Amino acid sequence: MKALVYHGPGRRSWDEVPDPKIRADGDVIVRITSATICGTDLHILNGDVPEVKPGTVLGHEAVGIVAEKGPGVTTVEIGDRVLVSCITSCGRCRFCKEARYGLCTGGGGWILGHLIDGVQAELARIPFADTSVYKVPEELTDEQVLFLADILPTAYEVGVIAGDVKPGDTVAIVGAGPIGLAAVMTAKLLTPGRIVAIDIADRRLEKARRFGADVTINNSREDAADTVFRLTDNLGADVAIEAVGVPESFELCTDLIRAGGRVANVGVHGKPATLHLEKLWIRDVTITTGLVDTNTTARLLKLVTEGRLDPLPFATHRFPLESTMSAYDTFAAAAETDALKVVLEAEPKMLEPATDKTLAGATA
Ligand SMILES: NC(=O)c1ccc[n+]([C@@H]2O[C@H](COP(=O)([O-])OP(=O)(O)OC[C@H]3O[C@@H](n4cnc5c(N)ncnc54)[C@H](O)[C@@H]3O)[C@@H](O)[C@H]2O)c1
Ligand SMILES: [Zn+2]
Ligand SMILES: [Zn+2]
Repeated sequence: MKALVYHGPGRRSWDEVPDPKIRADGDVIVRITSATICGTDLHILNGDVPEVKPGTVLGHEAVGIVAEKGPGVTTVEIGDRVLVSCITSCGRCRFCKEARYGLCTGGGGWILGHLIDGVQAELARIPFADTSVYKVPEELTDEQVLFLADILPTAYEVGVIAGDVKPGDTVAIVGAGPIGLAAVMTAKLLTPGRIVAIDIADRRLEKARRFGADVTINNSREDAADTVFRLTDNLGADVAIEAVGVPESFELCTDLIRAGGRVANVGVHGKPATLHLEKLWIRDVTITTGLVDTNTTARLLKLVTEGRLDPLPFATHRFPLESTMSAYDTFAAAAETDALKVVLEAEPKMLEPATDKTLAGATA
């Protein structure tokens, strides 16, 4: 089969590699129909995630059809269309029993495209299928569910839920990339009073307004903390969601938060950020961090099915799966291409709803 292979920092190629095989009773082999690229894949290519060994197939977000299953798999059948999520769950360890799948110690967690081969490929082996993949309702397209593999549960769980967004709250979201925009979208599920999006790129702020931010601040030109204090009668934001991953954006969150407020850090940090306890200790601020657990994926899937959540605006570019190399170039140059999420489509014709053809066939 063909797959996007990591060959060490700065090196990737679209290679012919051996087809994956069932290795454990709980495995399935999925024929990928749609996949996408994550900012984390770019971190890997930068050499920031040294656990990823050269030769690994990248990718941890996909939809596909179950092509083979191990003898222990009982909840999915060959031919089922499934969402493959960034987090795999063994279902048995103490963390999986608490629905903290991201912390799985039984062989799951973030393994795809990290510790084992991932899903930017024609085929992928998915361990612990019973507790790790989600059947996709027939009426939904791949693209409608693809972003539930990572950005939507990440923003919702690590940002919105950890930040305990409440009706009426002023929610400041620092960073308006895919994660920050997914935080805008999922914060709205909880009816905040006002969403303030903060970024250094005007084009991202424009997107934030389209996704539902009420106020936008470009913090390369404006003192964002000052503006947030002005907007909130000098109190500060009730919730601040950090969706960048650099020291300045974390420190900005702790500057613009109100006393008793909550800072939810989502960004992946490569460098230490300063925690200003000398200012924060007396203000009763709660700070949370975390890796996504994907324990809200089923709930988000229900919201998409009911038409209450529409992830389609994240898809800005589409490529055939075999053009994954060009898709990486487009995604990595987001500042020029305006890319949010790129969709890699295998055999797109097969993904079209078959109704018209079926009906034509039936009447002929
Ligand atoms: N915790 C988790 O489980 C988890 C999962 C997935 C991704 N992440 C992390 O979330 C973060 C955001 O992901 P993304 O894909 O949206 O990233 P991205 O790089 O596409 O977007 C980041 C945005 O931040 C803006 N920005 C940069 N510096 C800034 C600053 N000083 N102040 C304000 N804005 C600034 C950029 O203009 C950009 O729009 C990353 O660090 C990513 O690794 C975390
Ligand atoms: Zn990811
Ligand atoms: Zn586990």
